[in-house]
Amino acid sequence: HKDNTLNGKKVLITAGPTYENIDPVRFIGNFSSGKMGIAIAEAFYNRGAEVNLVLGPSKEPVPGGINVINVRSAQQMYDACMALFPDTDMAVMSAAVADFRPKTLAEEKIKKQDDEGMTIELVRNPDILKACGAIKSDKQLLVGFALETNNEEENALGKLKRKNADMIVLNSLNDEKAGFGTDTNKVTIFEKNGTIHRWPLRSKSELGVQLADLMIEKINESK
Ligand code: PMT
Repeated sequence: HKDNTLNGKKVLITAGPTYENIDPVRFIGNFSSGKMGIAIAEAFYNRGAEVNLVLGPSKEPVPGGINVINVRSAQQMYDACMALFPDTDMAVMSAAVADFRPKTLAEEKIKKQDDEGMTIELVRNPDILKACGAIKSDKQLLVGFALETNNEEENALGKLKRKNADMIVLNSLNDEKAGFGTDTNKVTIFEKNGTIHRWPLRSKSELGVQLADLMIEKINESK
């Protein structure tokens, strides 16, 4: 079911978690499986686009034909996206990127010192969506996600503005069968022109198709 709607167009997708190494045996990660972003990548591929998928550590299969760039840390994901974004028509940042990483990477496994607690000092990772928003041209369409547990809509709208995105897809952790790891998702989409789409629960693959088609509509409108 591949068509040629987006022939000649390039799409960039981020998906999955990032892992921030602490020492040779430990890392800081999160529960993202990569399913949501892979579904979006597949939808764009089926519309005929050339799709670059920058994918953090994920065990999910990726359909053939999609260019996969495997990364582990937020910094690696950032570097890959900075190289690809300038030559991209549409981008969707669905990865769950760690905001912080350990300040130093221990070369040897960290040992228990005594019975006291321990502290790992963290430093900020670059914000990939924000960095793309800062260099975005009028011809590019940039979509981010927002994963929230409270003040969901307010926080999502804040991210839309702060990160200079064209749309933000809000995932609430308060919704059942939505978010991390599931095959379904429930989102609210905020466009920068004020339009809000409240989509009921659906499979991540259907959501991928509908998000891709909404983005295609937007890019055609702005021509
Ligand atoms: O992978 P699945 O198991 O299918 O789960 C899908 C999902 C729940 C991970 C996905 O639907 C989702 O909500 N992804 C965004 C998760 C997130 O970390 O959101 P955030 O609110 O922390 O970040 C806001 C936006 O900035 C996101 O587009 C994120 O990719 C981006 N970001 C955040 C931090 C950072 N350093 N760089 C970024 O680009």
